Amino acid sequence: PTVEEVQTAILNALDASGTINDSRQLSVGATSLASPQGQAVVKAALDSLLSKEMAEYTQITNNLWALTEEGNQIAETGSHEYRVWSALPAAGQPGLSVKDLTDKVGAETVKVGQGRAFKSKWIAKDATGGFVQAADGAKVEAPVDETAEQLRSIRSTGTAGDAVLKELQKRKLVQTRKQIHYSAKKGSQFALEVKTLETDLTVEMLTSGAWKDASFKQYNFAAKGEPTDGGALHPLLKVREEFRQIFFDMGFTEMPANRFVETAFWNFDAMFVPQQHPARELQDTFYLKSPAKALQPPADYYERVRKTHEVGGYGSIGYRAPFSREESEKLLLRTHTTAVSTAMLYELANQPGGFKPAKLFSIDRVFRNEATDATHLAEFHQVEGVVADYDITLGHLIGFMQEFFGRMGNKTLRFKPAYNPYTEPSMEIFSWHEGLGKWIEIGNSGVFRPEMLEPMGLPKGVRVLGWGFSLERPTMIKYKIQDIRTLVGHKTDLGAVKTRPAVRLEKQDD
Ligand code: PHE
Repeated sequence: PTVEEVQTAILNALDASGTINDSRQLSVGATSLASPQGQAVVKAALDSLLSKEMAEYTQITNNLWALTEEGNQIAETGSHEYRVWSALPAAGQPGLSVKDLTDKVGAETVKVGQGRAFKSKWIAKDATGGFVQAADGAKVEAPVDETAEQLRSIRSTGTAGDAVLKELQKRKLVQTRKQIHYSAKKGSQFALEVKTLETDLTVEMLTSGAWKDASFKQYNFAAKGEPTDGGALHPLLKVREEFRQIFFDMGFTEMPANRFVETAFWNFDAMFVPQQHPARELQDTFYLKSPAKALQPPADYYERVRKTHEVGGYGSIGYRAPFSREESEKLLLRTHTTAVSTAMLYELANQPGGFKPAKLFSIDRVFRNEATDATHLAEFHQVEGVVADYDITLGHLIGFMQEFFGRMGNKTLRFKPAYNPYTEPSMEIFSWHEGLGKWIEIGNSGVFRPEMLEPMGLPKGVRVLGWGFSLERPTMIKYKIQDIRTLVGHKTDLGAVKTRPAVRLEKQDD
């Protein structure tokens, strides 16, 4: 029967007698609803009527007794002892040997039934040791097979006396089974007709006035809401986290790089980038209109930097070009995180107690006034680091690169001489990319020039190694992203951001 049919049956029964005491008595036509499946439909129908306040109900759970498979077999064919008894000849006739008896009723029945039949004095042995039915006086009557009768009664009524049930349960002939049924009564909105309830108050209902006669569905405050979406880490942040862990594993400290606006002094001058350098021009660097100027750097340091640019010092002849304070004070969006490293190196040189060796890194955003295409954005992230210590060499820088990139799975590296205004020597780092089948540039690096380090006040024997590479490039390779404009910005596929797995760099195992 359908839920609708059962609903009608329930409403009719409630209309006739006011209450339903036992929903198992319900039926649709000639079909009884007493079975567990029937009661499941009754529950669905009652739930629907309850939501419309047309009926209320209570669930009643009973423990019913049912026969096990073996119990059923005994109810059908008699107990083991009864089967043994019925297989035997009457008293006075030649008895059956154990073997003959086993052939007739099976080993299991003989094993269980023979002892019980003896105990109940249903069977006996004849003169030759064969089994026969016991003679009770002259007339042989069939013994009462109590077990089978008890089981048959439980099968039809679902219960019996406690002692009987306990004994039969011990013999694994009966077991309890939960049975659920319901009692029901009329609800406040009881009617014989099931009304469809409105779930929304609409403009049409308001304008036509139909809302006056409409019945509205009650709010279900107990209903669970739609699961909410959680946030997700952007792929760049996942890869950044992997890189951070590698730096931490190698004993590096993270630099505070949360400062996007820098002065030209820290971004360029302090790094010995000449004021006439093309990278400083408007078409390459974003300058701030307002405020356009920054606070002054420490006066004595500024003076040393200016002098080094204009006339040299520390073994250098300088750029021999005018140095303008105005140029130096300009505010810009930093073009590299090396501006942060530079400020940190100045701190290292001037900290209380003097210089101490340090290994520092940062992974943060930089800005360049560039046309965007599939591989370039005007803002991206740099993975940047410096190592400052006495008497370290280019060999240490190469060793570091092999270790660092090796931990990411880039084991085959090549180094190419390059030029940076602030490092000498400088190297570009290339890695063989198995998937792409070519050498790809993965970083730029070098040993910082004395013209940059000595004006800061770093001791003469201190060498500083530095490098920088983009976070976007390894991320695009790891996630097989072709166009950087789908990784960041309004073309980003948020669904992909949510479902992309965390990246695992194949870290070195030795
Ligand atoms: N600043 C360089 C860049 O933006 C990277 C670099 C950092 C090179 C430190 C050498 C030393 O590409």
